[in-house]
Amino acid sequence: MSKRTHDQVEATEMEAGPSTGISLTPSTNGVNTPDQANVGLLQIPQKRFYRQRAHANVFVDHELDYPKSPSAMDWSFHYPQYFSYPDQAEPLPGQNIKKVEWADVGCGFGGLLMALAPMFPDTLMLGMEIRTSVTKYVTDRIAATRQSQSLLPSESSEKKPGEYQNVSVIRANAMKHITNFFDKGQLSKIFFLFPDPHFKNRKQKARIITPGLLAEYAYVLRPGGILYTVTDVKDLHDWMAHHLNNHPLFIPIPNSDLEDDPILEAARTSTEEGKKVERNKGDKWVACFRRAENPE
Ligand SMILES: C[S@@+](CC[C@H](N)C(=O)[O-])C[C@H]1O[C@@H](n2cnc3c(N)ncnc32)[C@H](O)[C@@H]1O
Repeated sequence: MSKRTHDQVEATEMEAGPSTGISLTPSTNGVNTPDQANVGLLQIPQKRFYRQRAHANVFVDHELDYPKSPSAMDWSFHYPQYFSYPDQAEPLPGQNIKKVEWADVGCGFGGLLMALAPMFPDTLMLGMEIRTSVTKYVTDRIAATRQSQSLLPSESSEKKPGEYQNVSVIRANAMKHITNFFDKGQLSKIFFLFPDPHFKNRKQKARIITPGLLAEYAYVLRPGGILYTVTDVKDLHDWMAHHLNNHPLFIPIPNSDLEDDPILEAARTSTEEGKKVERNKGDKWVACFRRAENPE
């Protein structure tokens, strides 16, 4: 896994020009506050600068960067408040204690993560996304949001708990490398929201939920953890529910048990695909499963 230092990352982000959706302007309204005077402001990126083909082939070898094992992963780039940098002399108080606990697989443009991060500011959450531009969009969105949060006065009503320090995204093929990033039982929630349906029979092996992959998801999810699926495609819902129901390590949770769960509500409504389905007045199919205890 290549390890970039904090300074390199900052430089990369600050140098990115408008073609990537980030612009370096002294302030958005031309008037600098004292805090902002020497800071290049990151703007919330615009999706039109980050368009990419709808599907990436999950079987070809993209140039992916992934750790040999979870212990080789340097999380400091993703969560600088929570992990010390490799060249940092001493961890700061509160660093190197937490682990990533929630994963949004195929997070797209990051709507779920941005909704959940301030609701659960003490939980580290990560989006995994295979498309390069889409991952870059989420990275830039988080960087700009963190920066604007840090510049708000503490009494501002727009200040959010945790200031989005608990959320990040990686470019990864979750179907191939999820166990490179997470230890056994590390995750307590894993989301599969509006995954690509791959309608044609010969393409179904590219679906993100297949019998073979469920063993990997069960491995990284701790007993008692929850796997969420939401889709607007009934056939895909039936496929996912069928395979999960038939897996010994997943126990279906009746939808009525999660009626008041704000996390499921966010999973149904806050992603970009979920919003599109709502605009088009489409149906949404939900299936959630609890990870069973490990067999003796
Ligand atoms: C239809 S989009 C849904 C995005 C998001 N969950 C939402 O609800 O808006 C499916 C996303 O999964 C990503 N994806 C597909 N296969 C993947 C894989 N193996 N690993 C990581 N991301 C994947 C795609 O690139 C795409 O962005």
